[in-house]
Amino acid sequence: MEFKKEFLQKLQSAKKIVFFTGAGISAESGISTFRGKDGIWNKMKPEELASFDAFMRNPDLVWEWYQHRRDIVNKAQPNAGHTAIAEFEKFFDVSVVTQNIDNLHRSAGSKKIFELHGNIERNFCINCHTFYNSLEIELSNTVPKCSKCGGLVRPDVVWFGEMLPQDEFSEGEKAAEWSDICFVVGTSAVVYPAAYIPMSAKRGDSYLVEVNIEPTELSSYADYSLFGKAGEILPKILEEVKKFKS
Ligand code: OAD
Ligand code: ZN
Repeated sequence: MEFKKEFLQKLQSAKKIVFFTGAGISAESGISTFRGKDGIWNKMKPEELASFDAFMRNPDLVWEWYQHRRDIVNKAQPNAGHTAIAEFEKFFDVSVVTQNIDNLHRSAGSKKIFELHGNIERNFCINCHTFYNSLEIELSNTVPKCSKCGGLVRPDVVWFGEMLPQDEFSEGEKAAEWSDICFVVGTSAVVYPAAYIPMSAKRGDSYLVEVNIEPTELSSYADYSLFGKAGEILPKILEEVKKFKS
């Protein structure tokens, strides 16, 4: 794979790198994306499953759906894309800003991770806000109750209409703004406010590189678009880095 010279030069001089990732980076680990051909939102209505109202209307149904996703995530392994991102840390100051709730960046070894949409392993009581990780509660197909107050326990993920975790978002934005290169990997970049991250990078004069199997909303803003699978392209970029860093 041939990369353009301008990009290789940026890579040589870069110190801070941000990876802004979405469902596409986990596609090769067997986790479905939301949009596109086999996307989850083609088969399910987000407003019936991923909102607080939906949860209050039918907590068991929503819980069962997250339990199903938890099972998929628990079986999934990080792929070559996640692993390459983790390895970039040997050479750069790397921040990972992810929309994914699947923990695969952490399993791959990335250290500085900002999770904009929460984490499926964490849950909390909607009454008293006690947190429970998935090992601390009974994981059946019906919604668990808080052992302190009996309230319903929900997954700690961001649902439609909800705020993003403030610190994760503002730290993620800062990292993007201060980065020398911002890779936007496997995201349709249409869900806000998460999709402001690449814009913050641009505002900070970062070099914006898109890695996706197809063009997206972002392609016209990107300084460089690389079309193909994240699990194939990211290791190739890492190879280039190794050439001049070793
Ligand atoms: P989407 O499903 O919207 O987009 C996935 C993107 O990944 C698409 O642009 C695909 O072309 C691309 N893609 C698929 N396979 C790929 C591969 N092997 N390599 C590289 N790219 C690939 O997922 P997100 O952008 O993450 O929000 O969606 C954003 C948010 O919408 C999610 O976090 C979720 C959803 O509603 C919440 O749950 C709050
Ligand atoms: Zn409680």
